[in-house]
Amino acid sequence: MSGFWFGPMTDREIAELRDWAAMEDWNPGRGDLGVARASDPEAFVAIRQGDALVGGGSILSYGGKFGFMGLFILRPDVRGRGLGGQFWRWRLDQLKARLDADAVIGMDGVFQMTPFYERGGFVAAYRHLRMQGDAHERADPDVVSDRERLIEDILAFDAGRFPASREKFLRSWLDRPGVRIAGLYRGDKFVGYGVARPARAGFKIGPLFAADVVTADRLLGDLMSRIAGEQVQIDVPETNLTALALANKYGLEEVFNCVRMYHGAPPKMFIEDVYAVTSLEFG
Ligand SMILES: CC(C)(COP(=O)(O)OP(=O)(O)OC[C@H]1O[C@@H](n2cnc3c(N)ncnc32)[C@H](O)[C@@H]1OP(=O)(O)O)[C@@H](O)C(=O)NCCC(=O)NCCS
Repeated sequence: MSGFWFGPMTDREIAELRDWAAMEDWNPGRGDLGVARASDPEAFVAIRQGDALVGGGSILSYGGKFGFMGLFILRPDVRGRGLGGQFWRWRLDQLKARLDADAVIGMDGVFQMTPFYERGGFVAAYRHLRMQGDAHERADPDVVSDRERLIEDILAFDAGRFPASREKFLRSWLDRPGVRIAGLYRGDKFVGYGVARPARAGFKIGPLFAADVVTADRLLGDLMSRIAGEQVQIDVPETNLTALALANKYGLEEVFNCVRMYHGAPPKMFIEDVYAVTSLEFG
């Protein structure tokens, strides 16, 4: 299609893309797009017509080892004419060019679009269920909230529970305004951590990674107590039945779901330790 330009996105356009995501009801965390930009300056790409933004998406590279595509949105008046498909294939090529040859790419897609993504080489793995409810009081005196005390243990624990090492991303994720952090030790052993962050509507909790359900329960309860009364959302892998049972125990109910898909072999990780994924936009 002529008259459209594909290329890097400006900060002002990233803010516009954030507003479009809100209109789709995706409700990313307030600081999420800034974290992605800080950890990978080339993470956002745009379609422009003249000076106007008409579409965008993210193509985040985790140090070339793992890629993630998200926030694929076109302005409503240019949809349905083949532009989105052309842009999506261009985005995929741009991301592949920045990744190692054997790197896997992930995404969370809406169900009706999965045939399109399959035609682009992605394979469905499982669904993420968005569980939503109100946070209520359940503070835990053993939970540690001090970022400086936790940071090294969080970085070590995160490895193996996310497809790639992501120190830069995580340090930034934990540093955003309004973020609440929770970590737990059993004796000297670090057994899990969770993060609550403000979103446009209420709070989101993610990641919530724990070695066992008792730890996950204590972390979730403590994080909830620090945002009591707020709406809260967590995105749970449906294959982790224990995690779903925990969400149900807190009165959270499914409001939305999407399909995790991979281009390349699904990464090996301890999915049974994932009680809430970090984000549907960035992995
Ligand atoms: C998704 C979106 C970016 C596609 O842009 P677009 O310009 O309308 O897309 P195109 O017309 O180029 O169609 C691209 C492909 O998606 C498919 N598609 C588009 N909308 C679809 C829908 N609602 N249901 C099923 N398939 C759809 C088309 O069939 C096409 O597949 P093909 O190229 O293999 O024939 C746009 O519709 C949008 O912004 N939607 C709202 C946000 C959203 O849902 N994003 C996707 C999240 S996973």
